[in-house]
Amino acid sequence: MRWPGILEYFADYLPLTKKTPLITLHEGNTPLIPSSRLRQKVGVKGLFFKFEGMNPTGSFKDRGMVVAIAKAKEDGKEIVMCASTGNTSASAAAYARKAGLNCVVLIPQGKIALGKLSQALMHGAQVLAVQGNFDQALEVVRFITSHYPVALVNSLNPYRLEGQKTASFEVVEWLGGVPDFLALPVGNAGNITAYWKGFKELYTRKKITSLPKMLGFQAAGACPLVLGKPVANPQTVATAIRIGNPASWQGAIAAKEESQGLIEAVTDEEILQAQKILAEEEGIFVEPASAASVAGVLKKAREAFFRGMETVVCVLTGHGLKDPDIAMKQCEGSIEEVAPSVEEVVKILGL
Ligand code: F0G
Repeated sequence: MRWPGILEYFADYLPLTKKTPLITLHEGNTPLIPSSRLRQKVGVKGLFFKFEGMNPTGSFKDRGMVVAIAKAKEDGKEIVMCASTGNTSASAAAYARKAGLNCVVLIPQGKIALGKLSQALMHGAQVLAVQGNFDQALEVVRFITSHYPVALVNSLNPYRLEGQKTASFEVVEWLGGVPDFLALPVGNAGNITAYWKGFKELYTRKKITSLPKMLGFQAAGACPLVLGKPVANPQTVATAIRIGNPASWQGAIAAKEESQGLIEAVTDEEILQAQKILAEEEGIFVEPASAASVAGVLKKAREAFFRGMETVVCVLTGHGLKDPDIAMKQCEGSIEEVAPSVEEVVKILGL
């Protein structure tokens, strides 16, 4: 089957009108990859990875962005704007170009991964590096988009969450049922809000008869939802989730409480370890923030949280190529130099 993209495939679940332009880069339909080795380590019946890094711009943001941009186009907007730790800006820039709109992105200076920055620039977005953090950039964007004819495409825009909720539909479709747990990284908290909305919609429409427990994981240096108060100066190696005052705070807490799930913190060390384990044991390369879901599940396994018969889905939100610098740092010293000679290579390999 030709995959038509989010707007067409999930039209019945999206706020589209006859006038909505059905733009697409064929986002969505990302694989749900069964674990090969980590499943035993976690000690559950099923462990799956929803690899959102397979979206056109390499992150889950494309699902919501295609809806937000299509609606901005429908409304006659010419400029879209967002604050971003990187992935939202890459996605906004790409979809804006697809729809023929201009895009402005505000990013925290020096704190966004190289791959993401190169995407926004290549797609011709106007990139402004804010001398501050994401939360401060978002405040500026909120003001400008509510006082000038510029469309907001951060996840405060409800169309973003409408699109993002489709990932939960795919999890159910690919799995042929509802997982017991859905684990994901939490930054601005739009995604956990969107997944929960999606599952609840399926439940209301009687497509499913149970709901998963939501397991949200924040970085220890940027975990306002765990602390119960905003963090003024968030710090983490996982720059995508370096956020101190999430816009969808209430949505995240509701997802946690209604699903009887949890939102906890994982350290940078645990995040980087999980990133390496995923790459080495499962063949899946994700960016650090995405590994937070796996770091969290591994932590809960160490705490004997799982009973053994459960099915767990870890959402892997972004591709590893987004952040080559961190990846290279993780692998420092692993390249050996050698002369262009068979004997030398054979000697090193011990063959
Ligand atoms: N994982 C990745 C790779 C992200 O880029 C983000 C958020 C998250 C997880 C967290 O999702 O914000 O919905 O809780 N990135 C945003 C951005 C903030 O600007 O790209 P969330």
